[in-house]
Amino acid sequence: MAETIVFFNKDVLIIKPATKSSVMLRLIVLVFSMVFGVYICSICLKQISMQTKNKFVDIEVIERPCYNTLVDRSQIPFLHYPNPKTFDRSECAGNPVRLFAILSMQRSGSGWFETLLNSHINVSSNGEIFGSKIRRSNISSIIRTLDSVYNLDWLTSSSKNECSAAIGFKWMLNQGLMEHPNEIVDYFNYNGVSVIFLLRRNMLRRLVSVLANSYDKNAKVLNGVHVSHVHSHEEASTLSKYKPTINIASLSLDLREMEETAMKALEYFNGTRHMILYYEDLIKKPSKLIEVQDFLKLPRMKLTSQQVKIHKGSLSKHIKNWDDVNKTLYGTSYAKFLEADY
Ligand SMILES: *[C@@H]1O[C@H](CO)[C@@H](O)[C@H](O)[C@H]1NC(C)=O
Ligand SMILES: *[C@@H]1O[C@H](CO)[C@@H](O)[C@H](O)[C@H]1NC(C)=O
Ligand SMILES: *[C@@H]1O[C@H](CO)[C@@H](O)[C@H](O)[C@H]1NC(C)=O
Ligand SMILES: *[C@@H]1O[C@H](CO)[C@@H](O)[C@H](O)[C@H]1NC(C)=O
Repeated sequence: MAETIVFFNKDVLIIKPATKSSVMLRLIVLVFSMVFGVYICSICLKQISMQTKNKFVDIEVIERPCYNTLVDRSQIPFLHYPNPKTFDRSECAGNPVRLFAILSMQRSGSGWFETLLNSHINVSSNGEIFGSKIRRSNISSIIRTLDSVYNLDWLTSSSKNECSAAIGFKWMLNQGLMEHPNEIVDYFNYNGVSVIFLLRRNMLRRLVSVLANSYDKNAKVLNGVHVSHVHSHEEASTLSKYKPTINIASLSLDLREMEETAMKALEYFNGTRHMILYYEDLIKKPSKLIEVQDFLKLPRMKLTSQQVKIHKGSLSKHIKNWDDVNKTLYGTSYAKFLEADY
């Protein structure tokens, strides 16, 4: 107690002798240092704002507008905010876009599947863009095409709009895909492209469809125009009147080759984010379409298509040499193809 009092007194003693002029001096120093401090501060702030401005200019291209912080972090590699050269995404510029590719084989329902997908307001699937040989003539040509599609700059009749949330196309296994699997897997993984395999279990039905479609390329049964897909039951029954004759000698080998191609594709592209869809399941289970929408993280919608299946019912009435085909496959591992409905 005594000590503090003494201390207090000492303090008072120190202050007391201070003259009026030294107080003024202290005040001046104080005011000066305050003004100087404010000045330094303002310079600092200016520099910081200039730096951030510069940063904005630099990253404008890859800037992610209205970034949604609620998304699952593991999904970030699959979210894209494209900045198309050909149009403005306007009010949907802040919605992420998912990239996909439908890997399929001709006559496996991919045309039908694509019309279903495109009936979704937020999906744009651009058809067989690698049907053109020049676009798949080498890997750099393939990658340039992919870049253009995934930047929403590919112009087709599909339902692309500024609010597309998933953009893709269908890619047949015989369209350059199996010639450059490593490069394409790298591209898919680097760019977060999701793969939907659309395969057909019944390769015999697929073969019938391939042969009938190839016959119609020359015959042009419907009003002199070749069509691969139809929109009415009349058209379907007109087209299915043609019954192909199947080459029995190579039938088993042909079926095996088709299955092996599909297996090889599953192997090559196994390292991508993918789902496997079978045409037969798609016909029987409407819930498969919900799975697809969930896989692409789309808002769920009822999907519709105007397309009508061409070859319906028992295969025996769609094949000219049915008895031979039945005899060839009966009792083999391919016998299941003879019975199945789809
Ligand atoms: C790739 O194909 C395109 C189109 O056919 C051609 O213009 C280009 O020169 C080719 N590039 C290479 C590296 O072969
Ligand atoms: C889907 O499209 C609608 C209408 O264009 C748009 O309002 C909505 O934001 C889009 N949804 C997504 C997830 O992009
Ligand atoms: C794909 O990879 C999984 C897990 O690594 C493996 O179990 C499966 O057999 C592979 N499938 C094919 C077709 O290679
Ligand atoms: C196929 O052949 C087997 C054996 O001859 C016969 O029992 C069966 O009814 C045939 N199937 C059809 C669909 O014709």
